[in-house]
Amino acid sequence: MAIILGIESSCDETAAALVSDDGRVLSHRLAGQEAAHRPFGGVVPELAARAHVEMATPLVEAALADAGLTLSQVDAIAATAGPGLIGGVMVGLMTGKALAHAAGKPLIAVNHLEGHALSPRLADRDLRFPYLLLLASGGHCQLLLVRGVGDYARLATTIDDAAGEAFDKTAKLLGLGFPGGPAVEAAAREGDPKAVKLPRPLVGTAEPHFSFAGLKSAVLRARDAGIHRSADIAASFQQAVVDCLVDRTRRALDRAEGATALVVAGGVAANEAVRTALAGLAGDNGLRFVAPPLWLCTDNGAMIAWAGAERFAAGLFDGMETPPRARWPL
Ligand code: KG4
Ligand code: ZN
Repeated sequence: MAIILGIESSCDETAAALVSDDGRVLSHRLAGQEAAHRPFGGVVPELAARAHVEMATPLVEAALADAGLTLSQVDAIAATAGPGLIGGVMVGLMTGKALAHAAGKPLIAVNHLEGHALSPRLADRDLRFPYLLLLASGGHCQLLLVRGVGDYARLATTIDDAAGEAFDKTAKLLGLGFPGGPAVEAAAREGDPKAVKLPRPLVGTAEPHFSFAGLKSAVLRARDAGIHRSADIAASFQQAVVDCLVDRTRRALDRAEGATALVVAGGVAANEAVRTALAGLAGDNGLRFVAPPLWLCTDNGAMIAWAGAERFAAGLFDGMETPPRARWPL
């Protein structure tokens, strides 16, 4: 059995976890930075990088202690090498390199998107390749046919904003607070999803791409009209996003040859309305539906450790020269 340490630091969560290659999460620790960024209504890269510097090593030590392990008992060290805010990525990757060098362990440089893409296989050990993945996070909104470790066919992407970004901007417009996704979801529970007429950008078009910028502008207009409750705008917005995600995913299913399951991952996959609608779509198409537990949807160390375990099994290692990358398509 191999044990992998995973380190995540690409956005505003510092995280470390230990995962075994048979799919057990031995420990996971996470330090969010909401309080530091809240006054600014969004993630401030420089503040994020400093917080990662402070937290990375203590979190690794805590994760090891929780699992009752020392670094010498770990088989490899996996760290996010991008894409993300470059200062944070540098901190996590450098921490991983330093630990790997000091302990004489192999380094595995993980693409953060691959972490999300493979995390459903940690949640569900029966999930087999290939599967159709909706990866919806703060920075990305893509439909991928996951054919194997390192083998991803991108069927669609967003032509403007990511789905999570739309949630965050809507939360800001409605004064619902930060982080935006959970705030909009909470407000939407008190609102009527049919109250405000909002567009469904690109729905019905042949290519399964996404667009959310127009939706955000429509939210702004609805707010400025001054006649709607915030909860109603939030609920109507969330319903519009759900409709777009479902329509685009349905379209991509036609191209997902041999898919064994419909899978959702990334922060937006933590949204209950999104999960329920996609589960319905999977059921209509006779497909299994797999969504990781909420803590595994938003950024965490276990998904990086698990991607590391999958790469470890495939014999995929990286050298100390591996650079941190702000942009790194799958
Ligand atoms: O995957 P993630 O933690 O970080 C990135 O890699 O971007 O995703 C964060 C995004 C944010 O935009 C956040 O607002 C959104 O996921 N999110 C949600 C929910 N929880 C997080 N969006 C909708 N509903 C939620 N419950
Ligand atoms: Zn993420």
